[in-house]
Amino acid sequence: MLLDHPLEGAADPWGIALAADGAVAWITLSGVHQLARVDLARLHVYLAGGLPDGDPLARTEAYSKGVESIWLRIKRDPGQRAELVNDLAALHAADLIERLELGGARGPRGIALSPDGRQLAVAAHFSGEVLLVDTASGKVARRFAFGAAPADDPVARGRELFHDATLCFQNWLSCATCHPNEGRVDGMNWDTLADGIGNPKNLKSLLQAHETPPMMWRGAREDLEIATEKGFRFLLRQPQPGEVDAVLAYLRSLQPEPSPYLLAGGALSPAAARGRELFHGDETGCAACHKGPLYTDLKMHDVGTRGPVDHGADFDTPSLVELYRTAPFLHDGRSETLRELLTRDNPGDRHGISSELDEEQLEDLIAYLMSL
Ligand code: HEC
Ligand code: HEC
Repeated sequence: MLLDHPLEGAADPWGIALAADGAVAWITLSGVHQLARVDLARLHVYLAGGLPDGDPLARTEAYSKGVESIWLRIKRDPGQRAELVNDLAALHAADLIERLELGGARGPRGIALSPDGRQLAVAAHFSGEVLLVDTASGKVARRFAFGAAPADDPVARGRELFHDATLCFQNWLSCATCHPNEGRVDGMNWDTLADGIGNPKNLKSLLQAHETPPMMWRGAREDLEIATEKGFRFLLRQPQPGEVDAVLAYLRSLQPEPSPYLLAGGALSPAAARGRELFHGDETGCAACHKGPLYTDLKMHDVGTRGPVDHGADFDTPSLVELYRTAPFLHDGRSETLRELLTRDNPGDRHGISSELDEEQLEDLIAYLMSL
Protein backbone atom coordinates (compact mmCIF):
# COMPACT_ATOMS: atom_id res chain seq x y z
CA MET A 1 0.00 0.00 0.00
CA LEU A 2 1.27 3.48 -0.80
CA LEU A 3 1.16 5.89 2.12
CA ASP A 4 1.58 8.93 -0.13
CA HIS A 5 -1.15 11.29 -1.23
CA PRO A 6 -1.29 12.10 -4.97
CA LEU A 7 0.01 15.61 -4.21
CA GLU A 8 2.12 14.93 -1.13
CA GLY A 9 4.72 12.27 -0.60
CA ALA A 10 5.07 10.25 2.62
CA ALA A 11 8.83 9.99 2.26
CA ASP A 12 10.98 7.54 4.19
CA PRO A 13 8.60 5.48 6.36
CA TRP A 14 10.68 4.12 9.25
CA GLY A 15 8.93 2.41 12.18
CA ILE A 16 5.62 0.65 12.62
CA ALA A 17 3.50 -0.20 15.65
CA LEU A 18 0.36 -2.30 15.52
CA ALA A 19 -2.60 -2.10 17.90
CA ALA A 20 -2.96 -5.34 19.88
CA ASP A 21 -6.20 -6.18 18.04
CA GLY A 22 -4.59 -5.41 14.67
CA ALA A 23 -7.16 -2.68 13.93
CA VAL A 24 -4.72 0.21 13.53
CA ALA A 25 -1.15 0.64 12.24
CA TRP A 26 0.95 3.63 13.32
CA ILE A 27 3.84 4.43 11.02
CA THR A 28 6.55 7.06 11.43
CA LEU A 29 7.27 9.00 8.22
CA SER A 30 10.80 10.07 9.02
CA GLY A 31 11.43 12.21 5.92
CA VAL A 32 8.34 14.38 6.39
CA HIS A 33 8.31 14.49 10.21
CA GLN A 34 4.84 13.01 10.49
CA LEU A 35 3.01 10.07 11.99
CA ALA A 36 0.53 8.08 9.88
CA ARG A 37 -2.48 6.28 11.29
CA VAL A 38 -3.87 3.55 9.04
CA ASP A 39 -7.30 2.06 9.69
CA LEU A 40 -6.44 -1.61 9.15
CA ALA A 41 -9.80 -2.92 10.33
CA ARG A 42 -11.69 -1.16 7.53
CA LEU A 43 -8.84 -1.67 5.07
CA HIS A 44 -9.17 -5.44 5.44
CA VAL A 45 -12.91 -5.25 4.79
CA TYR A 46 -12.28 -3.24 1.60
CA LEU A 47 -9.46 -5.56 0.52
CA ALA A 48 -11.87 -8.48 0.82
CA GLY A 49 -14.26 -6.70 -1.57
CA GLY A 50 -16.54 -5.46 1.20
CA LEU A 51 -16.98 -1.84 0.08
CA PRO A 52 -20.54 -1.02 1.26
CA ASP A 53 -23.01 -0.44 -1.59
CA GLY A 54 -24.02 3.03 -0.47
CA ASP A 55 -20.43 4.22 0.00
CA PRO A 56 -19.51 7.29 -2.07
CA LEU A 57 -16.51 5.32 -3.34
CA ALA A 58 -18.89 2.82 -4.92
CA ARG A 59 -19.78 5.47 -7.49
CA THR A 60 -17.98 4.93 -10.76
CA GLU A 61 -16.44 8.38 -10.88
CA ALA A 62 -15.27 8.56 -7.29
CA TYR A 63 -11.73 9.86 -7.94
CA SER A 64 -12.15 12.14 -10.89
CA LYS A 65 -13.98 12.10 -14.17
CA GLY A 66 -13.90 8.66 -15.72
CA VAL A 67 -11.66 7.09 -13.06
CA GLU A 68 -13.26 4.29 -11.14
CA SER A 69 -12.39 3.77 -7.48
CA ILE A 70 -9.93 0.94 -6.90
CA TRP A 71 -12.13 -0.32 -4.07
CA LEU A 72 -15.07 -0.74 -6.42
CA ARG A 73 -12.86 -2.57 -8.90
CA ILE A 74 -11.60 -4.87 -6.12
CA LYS A 75 -15.18 -5.52 -5.08
CA ARG A 76 -15.89 -6.78 -8.60
CA ASP A 77 -12.59 -8.56 -9.14
CA PRO A 78 -10.21 -9.46 -6.27
CA GLY A 79 -7.38 -9.72 -8.83
CA GLN A 80 -7.44 -5.91 -8.97
CA ARG A 81 -5.68 -5.85 -5.59
CA ALA A 82 -2.45 -6.15 -7.55
CA GLU A 83 -3.07 -2.58 -8.78
CA LEU A 84 -2.86 -1.13 -5.27
CA VAL A 85 0.92 -0.77 -5.48
CA ASN A 86 0.39 1.90 -8.15
CA ASP A 87 -2.58 3.69 -6.64
CA LEU A 88 -1.56 6.87 -4.85
CA ALA A 89 -5.16 7.72 -3.96
CA ALA A 90 -6.39 4.40 -2.52
CA LEU A 91 -5.92 5.02 1.21
CA HIS A 92 -6.70 8.72 1.12
CA ALA A 93 -9.83 8.50 -1.03
CA ALA A 94 -11.33 6.02 1.42
CA ASP A 95 -10.20 7.98 4.50
CA LEU A 96 -8.18 4.98 5.60
CA ILE A 97 -5.11 7.06 6.44
CA GLU A 98 -4.60 10.12 8.56
CA ARG A 99 -1.29 11.98 8.71
CA LEU A 100 -0.50 13.75 11.96
CA GLU A 101 1.99 16.54 12.62
CA LEU A 102 4.34 16.07 15.55
CA GLY A 103 4.68 19.59 16.88
CA GLY A 104 7.96 20.37 15.13
CA ALA A 105 9.75 17.18 16.17
CA ARG A 106 12.19 16.19 13.45
CA GLY A 107 12.95 12.76 11.97
CA PRO A 108 10.53 10.42 13.80
CA ARG A 109 11.91 6.88 13.64
CA GLY A 110 11.41 4.27 16.38
CA ILE A 111 7.86 3.81 17.61
CA ALA A 112 6.20 1.72 20.33
CA LEU A 113 2.65 1.40 21.59
CA SER A 114 1.80 1.12 25.29
CA PRO A 115 0.19 -2.23 26.29
CA ASP A 116 -3.17 -0.55 26.88
CA GLY A 117 -2.99 1.00 23.41
CA ARG A 118 -3.54 4.53 24.69
CA GLN A 119 -0.11 6.02 24.15
CA LEU A 120 2.56 5.90 21.52
CA ALA A 121 6.21 6.65 22.18
CA VAL A 122 7.93 8.12 19.13
CA ALA A 123 11.68 8.74 18.99
CA ALA A 124 12.48 11.90 17.01
CA HIS A 125 16.00 11.27 15.75
CA PHE A 126 17.01 14.76 14.68
CA SER A 127 15.44 16.75 17.49
CA GLY A 128 16.76 14.29 20.10
CA GLU A 129 13.52 13.70 21.94
CA VAL A 130 10.85 11.13 22.66
CA LEU A 131 7.22 12.14 22.23
CA LEU A 132 4.23 10.59 23.89
CA VAL A 133 1.25 10.72 21.55
CA ASP A 134 -2.29 10.19 22.76
CA THR A 135 -3.77 7.61 20.37
CA ALA A 136 -7.37 8.79 20.83
CA SER A 137 -6.72 12.42 19.88
CA GLY A 138 -3.55 11.97 17.80
CA LYS A 139 -2.01 14.86 19.79
CA VAL A 140 1.44 15.05 21.34
CA ALA A 141 0.78 14.80 25.08
CA ARG A 142 4.32 15.02 26.44
CA ARG A 143 7.84 15.32 25.12
CA PHE A 144 11.15 14.43 26.71
CA ALA A 145 14.47 15.84 25.54
CA PHE A 146 17.37 13.46 26.04
CA GLY A 147 20.63 15.06 27.06
CA ALA A 148 22.27 17.67 24.89
CA ALA A 149 20.57 18.53 21.62
CA PRO A 150 22.51 17.24 18.59
CA ALA A 151 25.60 19.38 18.02
CA ASP A 152 24.96 22.20 15.59
CA ASP A 153 28.03 21.56 13.48
CA PRO A 154 27.96 21.39 9.66
CA VAL A 155 28.23 17.57 9.66
CA ALA A 156 25.16 17.18 11.89
CA ARG A 157 23.29 19.86 9.96
CA GLY A 158 24.23 18.26 6.63
CA ARG A 159 23.14 14.87 7.86
CA GLU A 160 19.76 16.28 8.79
CA LEU A 161 19.34 18.04 5.43
CA PHE A 162 20.30 14.80 3.68
CA HIS A 163 17.37 13.07 5.43
CA ASP A 164 14.80 15.87 5.01
CA ALA A 165 12.17 15.29 2.32
CA THR A 166 10.39 18.56 3.09
CA LEU A 167 13.14 20.25 1.04
CA CYS A 168 11.63 18.54 -2.01
CA PHE A 169 8.63 19.72 -4.04
CA GLN A 170 5.53 18.04 -2.55
CA ASN A 171 7.77 16.17 -0.07
CA TRP A 172 8.40 13.23 -2.38
CA LEU A 173 11.94 12.32 -1.41
CA SER A 174 15.10 13.11 0.49
CA CYS A 175 18.66 12.28 -0.55
CA ALA A 176 18.41 9.38 1.91
CA THR A 177 15.34 7.97 0.15
CA CYS A 178 17.68 6.67 -2.54
CA HIS A 179 20.96 6.78 -0.57
CA PRO A 180 19.88 5.08 2.72
CA ASN A 181 22.02 3.76 5.60
CA GLU A 182 24.22 6.87 5.76
CA GLY A 183 24.79 7.45 2.06
CA ARG A 184 24.98 3.81 1.05
CA VAL A 185 22.82 2.09 -1.58
CA ASP A 186 19.23 1.00 -2.12
CA GLY A 187 20.12 -1.62 -4.75
CA MET A 188 17.87 0.04 -7.34
CA ASN A 189 18.31 1.55 -10.79
CA TRP A 190 17.18 5.15 -11.23
CA ASP A 191 17.01 7.23 -14.38
CA THR A 192 18.58 10.46 -13.16
CA LEU A 193 18.90 13.17 -15.78
CA ALA A 194 22.60 13.85 -15.14
CA ASP A 195 23.59 11.65 -18.10
CA GLY A 196 20.50 11.93 -20.30
CA ILE A 197 17.18 10.13 -20.20
CA GLY A 198 16.22 6.49 -20.78
CA ASN A 199 19.40 4.93 -19.37
CA PRO A 200 18.76 4.00 -15.72
CA LYS A 201 21.78 3.56 -13.49
CA ASN A 202 22.46 1.47 -10.43
CA LEU A 203 22.68 3.74 -7.40
CA LYS A 204 26.22 4.50 -6.18
CA SER A 205 27.39 4.57 -2.58
CA LEU A 206 28.55 8.06 -1.55
CA LEU A 207 31.24 6.71 0.75
CA GLN A 208 34.57 8.48 0.08
CA ALA A 209 33.10 9.96 -3.09
CA HIS A 210 35.05 13.18 -2.46
CA GLU A 211 38.24 11.19 -3.06
CA THR A 212 37.10 9.51 -6.27
CA PRO A 213 36.28 12.05 -8.98
CA PRO A 214 34.72 12.05 -11.49
CA MET A 215 31.20 11.31 -10.22
CA MET A 216 28.48 9.11 -11.71
CA TRP A 217 29.11 5.93 -13.69
CA ARG A 218 29.53 7.93 -16.87
CA GLY A 219 31.56 10.70 -15.26
CA ALA A 220 28.68 13.13 -15.89
CA ARG A 221 29.70 15.32 -12.93
CA GLU A 222 33.27 16.44 -12.31
CA ASP A 223 33.43 16.01 -8.56
CA LEU A 224 31.46 15.59 -5.36
CA GLU A 225 30.95 19.33 -4.96
CA ILE A 226 29.29 19.72 -8.36
CA ALA A 227 27.30 16.48 -8.07
CA THR A 228 25.93 17.51 -4.67
CA GLU A 229 24.98 21.03 -5.76
CA LYS A 230 23.21 19.73 -8.88
CA GLY A 231 21.55 16.89 -6.96
CA PHE A 232 20.21 19.37 -4.43
CA ARG A 233 18.97 21.75 -7.14
CA PHE A 234 17.41 19.18 -9.48
CA LEU A 235 16.03 16.62 -7.01
CA LEU A 236 15.05 18.88 -4.11
CA ARG A 237 14.97 22.65 -4.64
CA GLN A 238 17.20 25.70 -5.06
CA PRO A 239 19.67 25.40 -2.17
CA GLN A 240 19.88 28.18 0.44
CA PRO A 241 23.30 29.55 1.44
CA GLY A 242 25.25 27.02 3.50
CA GLU A 243 23.04 24.02 2.73
CA VAL A 244 25.23 22.42 0.06
CA ASP A 245 28.36 22.97 2.18
CA ALA A 246 26.69 21.26 5.13
CA VAL A 247 25.68 18.23 3.04
CA LEU A 248 29.23 18.09 1.68
CA ALA A 249 30.66 18.16 5.20
CA TYR A 250 28.40 15.24 6.09
CA LEU A 251 29.32 13.22 3.00
CA ARG A 252 33.04 13.81 3.55
CA SER A 253 32.66 12.55 7.11
CA LEU A 254 31.39 9.09 6.11
CA GLN A 255 33.79 6.32 7.09
CA PRO A 256 33.93 2.77 5.76
CA GLU A 257 32.68 0.04 8.07
CA PRO A 258 34.84 -3.08 8.25
CA SER A 259 33.57 -6.00 6.21
CA PRO A 260 31.77 -8.71 8.22
CA TYR A 261 33.76 -11.21 6.13
CA LEU A 262 36.99 -10.24 7.88
CA LEU A 263 38.23 -12.46 10.69
CA ALA A 264 38.15 -11.23 14.29
CA GLY A 265 40.83 -8.55 14.56
CA GLY A 266 40.31 -7.51 10.95
CA ALA A 267 42.55 -10.06 9.22
CA LEU A 268 41.76 -11.56 5.82
CA SER A 269 40.56 -15.17 5.83
CA PRO A 270 43.02 -17.62 4.19
CA ALA A 271 40.79 -17.72 1.08
CA ALA A 272 40.63 -13.91 0.92
CA ALA A 273 44.42 -13.71 1.34
CA ARG A 274 44.87 -16.02 -1.66
CA GLY A 275 42.31 -13.90 -3.53
CA ARG A 276 44.34 -10.77 -2.81
CA GLU A 277 47.33 -12.31 -4.61
CA LEU A 278 45.14 -13.04 -7.61
CA PHE A 279 43.63 -9.55 -7.60
CA HIS A 280 47.03 -7.85 -7.52
CA GLY A 281 48.74 -10.28 -9.90
CA ASP A 282 49.12 -10.25 -13.69
CA GLU A 283 46.98 -13.34 -14.03
CA THR A 284 43.80 -11.25 -13.60
CA GLY A 285 45.08 -7.70 -14.05
CA CYS A 286 42.36 -6.33 -11.74
CA ALA A 287 44.64 -3.91 -9.90
CA ALA A 288 45.74 -2.23 -13.13
CA CYS A 289 42.52 -0.21 -12.89
CA HIS A 290 41.33 -0.92 -9.35
CA LYS A 291 44.48 0.47 -7.74
CA GLY A 292 45.46 2.31 -4.58
CA PRO A 293 43.65 2.32 -1.24
CA LEU A 294 40.28 3.01 -2.89
CA TYR A 295 40.79 0.53 -5.72
CA THR A 296 40.30 3.02 -8.54
CA ASP A 297 42.55 4.77 -11.06
CA LEU A 298 39.90 7.55 -11.27
CA LYS A 299 39.66 6.91 -15.01
CA MET A 300 37.00 5.85 -17.51
CA HIS A 301 37.35 2.53 -19.36
CA ASP A 302 35.41 0.43 -21.81
CA VAL A 303 35.32 -2.99 -20.16
CA GLY A 304 32.74 -4.44 -22.54
CA THR A 305 29.74 -3.68 -20.36
CA ARG A 306 27.79 -1.34 -22.64
CA GLY A 307 24.11 -2.30 -22.54
CA PRO A 308 21.34 -1.67 -25.07
CA VAL A 309 20.20 1.64 -23.54
CA ASP A 310 23.60 3.10 -22.66
CA HIS A 311 24.73 6.30 -24.36
CA GLY A 312 28.40 5.27 -24.31
CA ALA A 313 30.71 2.36 -23.56
CA ASP A 314 33.19 3.79 -21.08
CA PHE A 315 32.49 3.92 -17.36
CA ASP A 316 34.28 5.36 -14.37
CA THR A 317 36.29 2.72 -12.48
CA PRO A 318 34.35 2.41 -9.21
CA SER A 319 35.88 2.19 -5.77
CA LEU A 320 35.56 -1.34 -4.38
CA VAL A 321 35.48 -0.34 -0.70
CA GLU A 322 32.48 -1.89 1.09
CA LEU A 323 31.66 -4.06 -1.92
CA TYR A 324 30.10 -6.48 0.58
CA ARG A 325 27.12 -4.12 0.93
CA THR A 326 26.66 -2.62 -2.53
CA ALA A 327 25.09 -5.41 -4.61
CA PRO A 328 23.88 -5.52 -7.34
CA PHE A 329 26.97 -4.59 -9.35
CA LEU A 330 27.99 -2.68 -12.49
CA HIS A 331 26.45 0.52 -13.80
CA ASP A 332 23.10 -1.07 -14.56
CA GLY A 333 23.05 -3.53 -11.69
CA ARG A 334 23.12 -6.47 -14.10
CA SER A 335 25.27 -8.67 -11.81
CA GLU A 336 23.44 -9.75 -8.70
CA THR A 337 26.54 -11.48 -7.42
CA LEU A 338 30.29 -11.13 -7.89
CA ARG A 339 30.30 -14.62 -9.39
CA GLU A 340 27.96 -13.42 -12.15
CA LEU A 341 30.15 -10.34 -12.67
CA LEU A 342 33.27 -12.47 -13.07
CA THR A 343 31.72 -15.21 -15.23
CA ARG A 344 28.48 -14.58 -17.14
CA ASP A 345 28.98 -10.81 -17.34
CA ASN A 346 32.63 -10.82 -18.47
CA PRO A 347 32.59 -12.52 -21.85
CA GLY A 348 35.89 -12.19 -23.67
CA ASP A 349 37.79 -11.13 -20.54
CA ARG A 350 37.49 -7.46 -21.38
CA HIS A 351 36.91 -6.67 -17.71
CA GLY A 352 40.05 -8.25 -16.23
CA ILE A 353 40.99 -11.82 -16.99
CA SER A 354 38.56 -14.04 -15.13
CA SER A 355 37.75 -16.87 -17.55
CA GLU A 356 40.93 -18.79 -16.76
CA LEU A 357 40.35 -18.96 -13.02
CA ASP A 358 39.45 -22.41 -11.72
CA GLU A 359 36.60 -22.85 -9.28
CA GLU A 360 38.77 -22.47 -6.19
CA GLN A 361 40.51 -19.36 -7.50
CA LEU A 362 37.16 -17.82 -8.30
CA GLU A 363 36.00 -18.47 -4.73
CA ASP A 364 39.21 -16.94 -3.38
CA LEU A 365 38.93 -13.82 -5.52
CA ILE A 366 35.30 -13.35 -4.43
CA ALA A 367 36.29 -13.85 -0.79
CA TYR A 368 38.85 -11.06 -1.17
CA LEU A 369 36.40 -8.69 -2.87
CA MET A 370 33.81 -9.30 -0.14
CA SER A 371 36.32 -8.37 2.55
CA LEU A 372 37.22 -4.91 1.20
C1 HEC B 1 15.86 9.27 -7.03
C2 HEC B 1 16.99 8.67 -6.37
C3 HEC B 1 18.09 9.60 -5.93
C4 HEC B 1 18.00 10.66 -5.06
C5 HEC B 1 16.77 11.20 -4.38
C6 HEC B 1 19.34 11.16 -4.91
N1 HEC B 1 20.22 10.44 -5.65
FE1 HEC B 1 22.21 10.70 -5.73
N2 HEC B 1 22.36 9.22 -7.11
C7 HEC B 1 21.32 8.47 -7.58
C8 HEC B 1 21.80 7.56 -8.59
C9 HEC B 1 20.97 6.55 -9.38
C10 HEC B 1 23.18 7.81 -8.73
C11 HEC B 1 24.14 7.15 -9.74
C12 HEC B 1 23.87 7.84 -11.06
C13 HEC B 1 24.93 7.67 -12.10
O1 HEC B 1 26.02 7.20 -11.77
O2 HEC B 1 24.70 8.05 -13.27
C14 HEC B 1 23.49 8.86 -7.78
C15 HEC B 1 24.75 9.40 -7.62
C16 HEC B 1 25.08 10.40 -6.74
C17 HEC B 1 26.41 10.95 -6.57
C18 HEC B 1 27.67 10.49 -7.31
C19 HEC B 1 28.37 9.38 -6.54
C20 HEC B 1 29.58 8.84 -7.26
O3 HEC B 1 30.45 8.28 -6.61
O4 HEC B 1 29.66 8.92 -8.50
C21 HEC B 1 26.31 11.92 -5.60
C22 HEC B 1 27.45 12.77 -5.05
C23 HEC B 1 24.93 11.99 -5.20
N3 HEC B 1 24.21 11.05 -5.90
C24 HEC B 1 24.44 12.86 -4.23
C25 HEC B 1 23.09 12.99 -3.93
C26 HEC B 1 22.57 14.02 -3.05
C27 HEC B 1 23.41 15.04 -2.30
C28 HEC B 1 21.23 13.86 -3.04
C29 HEC B 1 20.20 14.75 -2.34
C30 HEC B 1 20.28 16.14 -2.75
C31 HEC B 1 20.91 12.73 -3.91
N4 HEC B 1 22.07 12.24 -4.44
C32 HEC B 1 19.64 12.27 -4.12
C33 HEC B 1 20.00 8.54 -7.15
C34 HEC B 1 19.49 9.47 -6.30
C1 HEC C 1 40.46 -1.82 -17.65
C2 HEC C 1 40.15 -1.41 -16.28
C3 HEC C 1 39.56 -2.47 -15.37
C4 HEC C 1 40.07 -3.72 -15.05
C5 HEC C 1 41.33 -4.38 -15.58
C6 HEC C 1 39.16 -4.29 -14.09
N1 HEC C 1 38.14 -3.42 -13.83
FE1 HEC C 1 36.60 -3.76 -12.57
N2 HEC C 1 35.69 -2.10 -13.26
C7 HEC C 1 36.21 -1.24 -14.20
C8 HEC C 1 35.16 -0.37 -14.67
C9 HEC C 1 35.30 0.74 -15.72
C10 HEC C 1 34.00 -0.75 -13.99
C11 HEC C 1 32.59 -0.18 -14.19
C12 HEC C 1 31.95 -0.98 -15.33
C13 HEC C 1 30.45 -0.90 -15.39
O1 HEC C 1 29.83 -0.52 -14.40
O2 HEC C 1 29.85 -1.26 -16.41
C14 HEC C 1 34.37 -1.82 -13.09
C15 HEC C 1 33.51 -2.41 -12.17
C16 HEC C 1 33.89 -3.41 -11.29
C17 HEC C 1 33.07 -3.94 -10.23
C18 HEC C 1 31.66 -3.48 -9.86
C19 HEC C 1 31.68 -2.55 -8.67
C20 HEC C 1 30.32 -2.03 -8.31
O3 HEC C 1 30.22 -1.33 -7.30
O4 HEC C 1 29.32 -2.31 -9.01
C21 HEC C 1 33.77 -4.93 -9.61
C22 HEC C 1 33.33 -5.78 -8.44
C23 HEC C 1 35.03 -5.03 -10.30
N3 HEC C 1 35.07 -4.08 -11.30
C24 HEC C 1 36.00 -5.95 -10.01
C25 HEC C 1 37.06 -6.23 -10.89
C26 HEC C 1 37.88 -7.42 -10.80
C27 HEC C 1 37.73 -8.51 -9.76
C28 HEC C 1 38.79 -7.32 -11.82
C29 HEC C 1 39.80 -8.35 -12.24
C30 HEC C 1 39.25 -9.65 -12.65
C31 HEC C 1 38.54 -6.05 -12.51
N4 HEC C 1 37.47 -5.44 -11.92
C32 HEC C 1 39.29 -5.56 -13.55
C33 HEC C 1 37.51 -1.21 -14.63
C34 HEC C 1 38.34 -2.31 -14.60
